[in-house]
Amino acid sequence: MYQIIDGKRISQEIKDELKEKVTALKEQGRTFALAVIQVGDDPASSVYVGNKKKACAYIGIESLSYELPEETTQEELLKLVQELNGNSAVGGILVQLPLPEHIDEEKVLLAISPEKDVDGFHPVNVGNLSIGRPGFVSCTPAGVIQLLKRSGIAIEGKECVVLGRSNIVGKPMAMLLLRENGTVTVCHSRTRNLREITRRADILVVAVGKPKFVDASYVKEGAVVIDVGIHRNENNRLCGDVDFDSVAPHTSAITPVPGGVGPMTIAMLMHNCVEKTLQ
Ligand code: GUN
Repeated sequence: MYQIIDGKRISQEIKDELKEKVTALKEQGRTFALAVIQVGDDPASSVYVGNKKKACAYIGIESLSYELPEETTQEELLKLVQELNGNSAVGGILVQLPLPEHIDEEKVLLAISPEKDVDGFHPVNVGNLSIGRPGFVSCTPAGVIQLLKRSGIAIEGKECVVLGRSNIVGKPMAMLLLRENGTVTVCHSRTRNLREITRRADILVVAVGKPKFVDASYVKEGAVVIDVGIHRNENNRLCGDVDFDSVAPHTSAITPVPGGVGPMTIAMLMHNCVEKTLQ
């Protein structure tokens, strides 16, 4: 029988720990505020932003909401980011992605002070992660590490294969698994003999962005499979990058979609609003 890794439960556990911590620190006079900026009204972004604000309220972090119209210029957005950088009452700044086409995403992310970059997207934080210095870590891969640790799955010495090489998930995921003393391989769309490599994995993290891309033929018997993908299928139901029904019986543990990695991203964002460094 395989274990279903319960991201909903684990994310709740983390949020409860943070709530307790924030309550105690507030009693000592510390304050917590996250600025959340959304440009335009993309419905998916509105849902994510709403959930982030709800999590802030639960934990006791003040959220400062900036809902800007689609026509907002890059200069206006950069000016707001600069103001928030200089506002000592604001501990974290989050610019929800994607931004409208006329705005250069990279320019905006670079403008956020690395000290307030709770998404962990700024090159300074990415660089710190890669050389083992403290700093903000990208929330989704940080959440995967927490899922593994809190499910009693050891990483040290294991063959870890990351499928996907994005800046937000694949690359920081590889760095984090390496930091945990895993033996790490990163595969991607140009990898030859992909199955040969994924079938070596004791821990397989899938972040390819293709619905049900990974079937049982990619997975070694007894492996741990972490599915970062989230898609809507033809029946409007959520599914991941992994074909759960065919893969799960061959694993020792697997994350479901929904209820696996998804809820962890916000929990780790909240972590970053409270503590700068991931233990
Ligand atoms: N859009 C989708 N995921 C994310 C995220 O983790 N952070 C930000 N800022 N935008 C996103």
